[in-house]
Amino acid sequence: MTITSARLTNSSSTPDAAGTAPKNADPHIVAWVASIASLTTPDAVVWCDGSLAENDRLTRMMVDSGTLLRLNAEHRPNSFLARSDPSDVARVEARTFICSESEDAAGPTNNWREPAEMRGTLSTLFAGSMRGRTMYVVPFSMGPLGSPLAKLGVQVTDSPYVVVSTRIMTRMGADALSLIGPDTEWVPAVHSVGAPLVNGAKDVPWPCNETKYISHFPETREIWSYGSAYGGNALLAKKSFALRIASVLARDEGWLAEHMLILKITNTRGKVFHIAAAFPSACGKTNLAMLRPSIPGWKVETIGDDIAWLRPGPDGRLRAINPEAGFFGVAPGTGRSTNATAIDTLWGNTIFTNVALREDGDVWWEGLSEKAPDNLTDWQGNAWSSTSGSTAAHPNSRFTVAAAQCPAIADDWQDPEGVVIDAIIFGGRRATNVPLVTEARGWEHGVFVGATVSSERTAAAEGTVGELRRDPFAMMPFCGYNMADYWSHWLEIGETLGTQAPKIFQVNWFRKGADGSFLWPGFAENSRVLEWILDRVDGRAAALDTPLGWKPVDGGLNVDGINVTHRDLTQLFDVDPDAWFAELDATEQFFATFGDRLPASLTAQLTDIRRRLKLSIEN
Ligand code: GTP
Ligand code: SPV
Ligand code: MN
Repeated sequence: MTITSARLTNSSSTPDAAGTAPKNADPHIVAWVASIASLTTPDAVVWCDGSLAENDRLTRMMVDSGTLLRLNAEHRPNSFLARSDPSDVARVEARTFICSESEDAAGPTNNWREPAEMRGTLSTLFAGSMRGRTMYVVPFSMGPLGSPLAKLGVQVTDSPYVVVSTRIMTRMGADALSLIGPDTEWVPAVHSVGAPLVNGAKDVPWPCNETKYISHFPETREIWSYGSAYGGNALLAKKSFALRIASVLARDEGWLAEHMLILKITNTRGKVFHIAAAFPSACGKTNLAMLRPSIPGWKVETIGDDIAWLRPGPDGRLRAINPEAGFFGVAPGTGRSTNATAIDTLWGNTIFTNVALREDGDVWWEGLSEKAPDNLTDWQGNAWSSTSGSTAAHPNSRFTVAAAQCPAIADDWQDPEGVVIDAIIFGGRRATNVPLVTEARGWEHGVFVGATVSSERTAAAEGTVGELRRDPFAMMPFCGYNMADYWSHWLEIGETLGTQAPKIFQVNWFRKGADGSFLWPGFAENSRVLEWILDRVDGRAAALDTPLGWKPVDGGLNVDGINVTHRDLTQLFDVDPDAWFAELDATEQFFATFGDRLPASLTAQLTDIRRRLKLSIEN
């Protein structure tokens, strides 16, 4: 059988193959489930209602099968540790595909496959791929149930770990299903770990397959993922739907689907602001979203830590929702001194993946405490000591926890209309070149800043950690269409917003001094940078023009009481013309890969910054 389109039933399947569907399930969904079941031939099909009872049943089953380890309830009630297969620890960008009709529609930054060819490949891989397993049907809403900004999806999966994770990460279950009627748009997502249990084969704790395909069909809005159970490869509501497919929906419908946190700030004067900020994977979104400010009288609250859907509202201002309902956060580096709010969120009801286990049945990772406890078991289940020569937790180990459990969650985090965004921030991990903070000269310059984000690679995806790579808008791995068209779309949104467009800023917490240590203390002290940003939004702070945009005047950034010397500050804002000419040359080459799809205004911005750099040398 060849897969034609997710929404078409194959003729050989009968509705019976869909198992016992809830009575109110839309017949299109039932027919689709039946067709996937006929293809993948699971032993059973289970429709998930999202209830606590169902969740408890699944976690108990996974504890019995060895997929989950129940943590000591005295320390971490209702919490579990999963250890993945060592080959399945992060998103696999090299195996992520955009299968648009034309290669140009995917653009030079995506792996493109011809859709018919990919459907052929997937038909073969998925045929019988769920034998011996249960296929779960997981309906979910991205965004508050019934919100005009929300979207619906249905994932089928043969991984119970994915089911319980999706229950935390989305509004999953019967309520989402009941919102899907015959005319409702919904995104179908098919997931298999690709490890059928045949001839009485015994299951393993983390089934997966060496062969992996994370495939997206933007025209038919479908997702097919094979071979992995980890993170964005498998929790398809997240990067696959809420970014790759949603970015295409957003282009067509006049909104933005972004890799951005959302936070709410109430300043000393009681004025409320909302900020959206894009940073590449493992570059500080969760940390900033849960910031505990060092500025007296400030209150910072969390709305989202990874994804924002933004749309010009009826009043012409940009509004945003967090489409997710949970956090899938990086564990290493999360501690009381860096992110106390996250620590307080993780008290229980949490799934940890690939962290270390303490002998008292609690969890540990590098950065949770300064000193590692004795007698740890590492993420692979081996005895670990500080002389083992490896980390106890995997560098991309994660926690999965409900956003509602975050003590700093904002009261408007589920506002169905979204919150008004006052400023947009782009960041990255740059040891050199990029200043601590600059303000773009306007929307077009801001789009240039977003388009030229580069960052040192982290453990969030496969590849060499530390290597500098381009990550425009922190969306390189997540944009479902041609990145040049995406930039054009951003420029158009700017025209729609006009004078109501939020100001755009660039930050870099990661600049290093000659001795290789960070020049900026980061974390709580990042509130000082936000303070300057909000004062600019409010028209209260003066700024100096630089070739890269506006920066704080001397003494304009509040560094009272922190260990940042005048020399550090100078270095944090230093613009080295030679380094920047080289950076702009590289940008020009990168832009050239988009051919004539590159928006002319980005070239104009590049020329303008070169001109300003030249002037800065002459003066
Ligand atoms: P994804 O979930 O992969 O999209 O990552 P993220 O952007 O949410 O990253 P996260 O906030 O989890 O941070 C990743 C790592 O960066 C952690 O180890 C943090 O400790 C570290 N980090 C975050 N903020 C700062 C900062 O201000 N300074 C420094 N030096 N490190 C930081
Ligand atoms: C990221 O890599 O940006 C993440 C983790 O947020 S994952 O869900 O695996 O994509
Ligand atoms: Mn992310």
